[in-house]
Amino acid sequence: MIHSCSEERKMMILWSLCLIFALSNSILVVIASPSQHLCLPDQRDALWEFKNEFYVDSDVTNFEKMTEKWRYNTDCCSWDGVSCDPKTGKIVELGLISSSLNGPLRSNSSLFRLQHLQSLDLSYNNFSGILPDSIGNLKYLSVLRCSSCNLHGKLPSSLGNLSYLTHLYLSVNDFTSEGPNLQLVLPKLSSLKSIDLGSNQFKGTLPSNMSSLSKLEYFGMSGNSFSGSIPSSLFMIPSLLDVSLERNHFSGPLEIGNISSPSKLRYLIVGENNFNGPIPGSLLKLVGLEYLDLSFWNTGRGIVDLSFFSHFISLRDLDLSGIHLNISSTLHLPMINTLTLSSCNISEFPKFLENQTKLRYLDISANQIEGQLPEGFGRLPRLWYVNISDNLFSGKLTMLPNSTRLFVGSDNRFSGEIRRGICELFGLQVLDLSNNNFSGSIPRCLESFNTTLWVLHLQNNSLSGVFPEESISLGLISLNVGHNQLSGELPKSLINYTDLKFLNVEGNRINDTFPFGVSLLPHLQVLVLRSNEFYGPIYSPRDSLSFPNLRIFDISDNRFSGVFPSDYFVGWNAVSSVVEVEYYGRISVFAGGIRRYYYSSVVLTNKGVKMELVGRVFTMYKIIDVSRNRFEGDIPESIGSLKGLIVLNMSYNAFTGHIPQSLTNLTNLQSLDLSQNRLSGEIPPQLGKLTFISRMNFSYNMLEGPIPQGTQIQSQNGSSFAENPGLCGAPLEDTCGGGGEEEETEQEQDEEKEEKEQVLSWTAAAIAYVPGVVCGLTIAHILTS
Ligand SMILES: *[C@@H]1O[C@H](CO)[C@@H](O)[C@H](O)[C@H]1NC(C)=O
Ligand SMILES: *[C@@H]1O[C@H](CO)[C@@H](O)[C@H](O)[C@H]1NC(C)=O
Ligand SMILES: *[C@@H]1O[C@H](CO)[C@@H](O)[C@H](O)[C@H]1NC(C)=O
Ligand SMILES: *[C@@H]1O[C@H](CO)[C@@H](O)[C@H](O)[C@H]1NC(C)=O
Ligand SMILES: *[C@@H]1O[C@H](CO)[C@@H](O)[C@H](O)[C@H]1NC(C)=O
Ligand SMILES: *[C@@H]1O[C@H](CO)[C@@H](O)[C@H](O)[C@H]1NC(C)=O
Ligand SMILES: *[C@@H]1O[C@H](CO)[C@@H](O)[C@H](O)[C@H]1NC(C)=O
Ligand SMILES: *[C@@H]1O[C@H](CO)[C@@H](O)[C@H](O)[C@H]1NC(C)=O
Ligand SMILES: *[C@@H]1O[C@H](CO)[C@@H](O)[C@H](O)[C@H]1NC(C)=O
Ligand SMILES: *[C@@H]1O[C@H](CO)[C@@H](O)[C@H](O)[C@H]1NC(C)=O
Ligand SMILES: *[C@@H]1O[C@H](CO)[C@@H](O)[C@H](O)[C@H]1NC(C)=O
Ligand SMILES: *[C@@H]1O[C@H](CO)[C@@H](O)[C@H](O)[C@H]1NC(C)=O
Repeated sequence: MIHSCSEERKMMILWSLCLIFALSNSILVVIASPSQHLCLPDQRDALWEFKNEFYVDSDVTNFEKMTEKWRYNTDCCSWDGVSCDPKTGKIVELGLISSSLNGPLRSNSSLFRLQHLQSLDLSYNNFSGILPDSIGNLKYLSVLRCSSCNLHGKLPSSLGNLSYLTHLYLSVNDFTSEGPNLQLVLPKLSSLKSIDLGSNQFKGTLPSNMSSLSKLEYFGMSGNSFSGSIPSSLFMIPSLLDVSLERNHFSGPLEIGNISSPSKLRYLIVGENNFNGPIPGSLLKLVGLEYLDLSFWNTGRGIVDLSFFSHFISLRDLDLSGIHLNISSTLHLPMINTLTLSSCNISEFPKFLENQTKLRYLDISANQIEGQLPEGFGRLPRLWYVNISDNLFSGKLTMLPNSTRLFVGSDNRFSGEIRRGICELFGLQVLDLSNNNFSGSIPRCLESFNTTLWVLHLQNNSLSGVFPEESISLGLISLNVGHNQLSGELPKSLINYTDLKFLNVEGNRINDTFPFGVSLLPHLQVLVLRSNEFYGPIYSPRDSLSFPNLRIFDISDNRFSGVFPSDYFVGWNAVSSVVEVEYYGRISVFAGGIRRYYYSSVVLTNKGVKMELVGRVFTMYKIIDVSRNRFEGDIPESIGSLKGLIVLNMSYNAFTGHIPQSLTNLTNLQSLDLSQNRLSGEIPPQLGKLTFISRMNFSYNMLEGPIPQGTQIQSQNGSSFAENPGLCGAPLEDTCGGGGEEEETEQEQDEEKEEKEQVLSWTAAAIAYVPGVVCGLTIAHILTS
């Protein structure tokens, strides 16, 4: 057990090393070069001026800041990131990755005086501007890298003059292409071996004649908006190894053309484009394919026979998601490592899988597979990632392969106890069994994953009993056991799970006091205790609550009581901030060499229709819901410090006193519900100035005075102010000491309100599973549950 656990860790370390190496190989080159006193004064001055063109942020810690280590009076050939030709002393390599260079790369930059540069790597800096035409002056450049450089605009046409260029990496920027720019530049780069322009905003078509790129090995253009067909001349390049064009708008026939010698192509990644029609038989000319991604190829009503792919004898990775497949029971495929057959209209468990003994990664989610998992499946020796979610699997969970580390079995009809199938595993990292019919208790055996488990999602089952104290891993990031019948107390050990970001226990029968310890969890972003039997105060003079990263605090529908001290919300920094600094809600997991993400998400319900907010949308929502409890006393003044708040619900309590003036500070508020309390005094007139607010409710209080003016308030239905004996003015019918009033049609108001109720009632901070490769892009996957 310890053995396989450490093996997994080795694998992770290996991946991180790969990444670090990929990022820094040019630094390594530099370190290896000799450092004699070579530096030429004009070259040194050019470098020094170049350094001074940029602002280096001294606050950031995770950057190399190489230029900061340069000293003017030392040999510039020994400066970090600089490498000279040992004979001439000319600077030939400059590698300043991740050096926190901020500022534009101007066309008169001193960089372009380093005429002898052969290798330039400025990746992961912030130039926030264009790549100037002067880049064409560096005519000896063979390697040019500026990935994640915050560059935009067109590619300079002078790039076409770099006739020695072999490696061009400009991925993850905002480059655009207007007109025939890329079409003109690309064919001129006849020395090119490797080009990656992925994750930019290129549009238009690829040049139709690419035969001039006769040395090309890697062609990466994924994540752009290219359209038209992929030119067959590309596949005719004899040296070609790797084509990555996924996530574009390519369409039309995929023509491989007349290949004379056997193709060397190993990677063909063209998924998530607009291809339609049958899968072309000419693909079979690509005899050496190891990785094939044709996902979401629209074959219309055509059904693809999976046996077609058995001809690729070297195939290791196959992604046919979104293609309707016919899988015969006698099919033999070559031994695959990574198989993704999501949304393939499969209705029976594919028998051939039982013989795929090299399989490490399997995704057969979103099909209609019925029945139990076959016994043979549990004998696959290497399976590591298993996603069978969103199918019709039923019965008890049978033994999973004992190598399983990530198991996503959500949205099926599994029943029986969880212990079966799970307790025999080792080193489980992700367990998602949400939305099934599992019963019994949360198994104590989860303790055996107490160092490995990151994600435990058991929401929407019929689990009962007490939450076992031992069963949670110290590394847990996301725990969701919502909508079961759990009783008893929360495990006290929760306060020791310092990595926890998402905690959701809503819709159970947990009978406990407020878990004060959780405020010590520095990363906690979501705390949902809604609809349980929690009781007692949520304030204690001993434990001062401060949730620096909390963004969703939902403790509604319990029996909490007591008062909020007026400084209660001081220190809730994430809700106080309007600006998003970090991309929240993401848990990344390496699976079979592919990075997968779990996104936290929030489900909001409106009359049975569930909307799920994932990823970037989620990050916008900051919610405090303490409704339906027994709170009393004043609404704390410090509520006004939560400037990022979108939804505030304090209804159905026994709050007294005035509505605090500071509420008017919450300029992002979209929904405010203070109904069913004992609030008195006036509604602060400034509330009329909140422009985003689309729903508010002050009904059933003891408020008085005129309802504030303001289009948002005035467009509310009168019922939002009802049952307050002293309130007057529109939209109520009671006028304040006379005066004209305008009638709006009631029906219009109702329709409007209907829409706005979408932000009304919050349930669950469920966690949705989102597959995808990153680059900071959101791929939101809205689950239907
Ligand atoms: C480069 O041009 C900018 C204006 O575009 C000017 O302010 C700057 O002084 C020039 N820098 C050099 C090194 O000539
Ligand atoms: C990049 O530079 C721009 C403009 O100089 C600045 O607004 C932005 O905050 C910088 N981005 C980062 C991540 O530092
Ligand atoms: C490219 O080189 C040609 C001649 O070698 C020159 O005339 C032209 O101006 C250069 N183009 C750019 C954009 O530098
Ligand atoms: C493609 O361009 C090459 C020169 O780069 C030329 O020799 C060849 O004829 C062109 N092919 C077509 C089909 O236009
Ligand atoms: C491919 O080769 C065949 C015969 O070898 C020929 O008939 C056909 O025209 C060629 N097609 C193209 C597109 O060159
Ligand atoms: C699936 O393939 C089998 C054999 O290859 C064939 O007999 C059957 O008709 C196919 N089914 C469909 C729906 O195409
Ligand atoms: C699996 O392999 C065994 C032995 O090679 C063979 O007898 C069996 O038919 C295969 N099963 C499937 C479903 O391919
Ligand atoms: C995992 O299961 C295989 C058989 O399926 C068995 O040979 C192997 O010993 C098991 N591994 C461990 C660590 O128990
Ligand atoms: C994890 O569980 C094992 C028993 O399965 C126990 O011996 C060990 O102390 C636990 N480790 C931690 C950190 O709780
Ligand atoms: C938290 O961890 C500490 C140190 O491992 C341990 O002494 C303490 O008992 C734990 N607290 C709870 C409530 O489990
Ligand atoms: C909650 O627990 C307390 C003390 O253990 C008990 O007195 C009370 O009846 C329980 N409440 C409910 C609703 O079960
Ligand atoms: C509300 O905003 C005003 C002015 O912007 C500020 O003086 C006051 O401190 C704020 N109140 C709170 C509670 O943040």
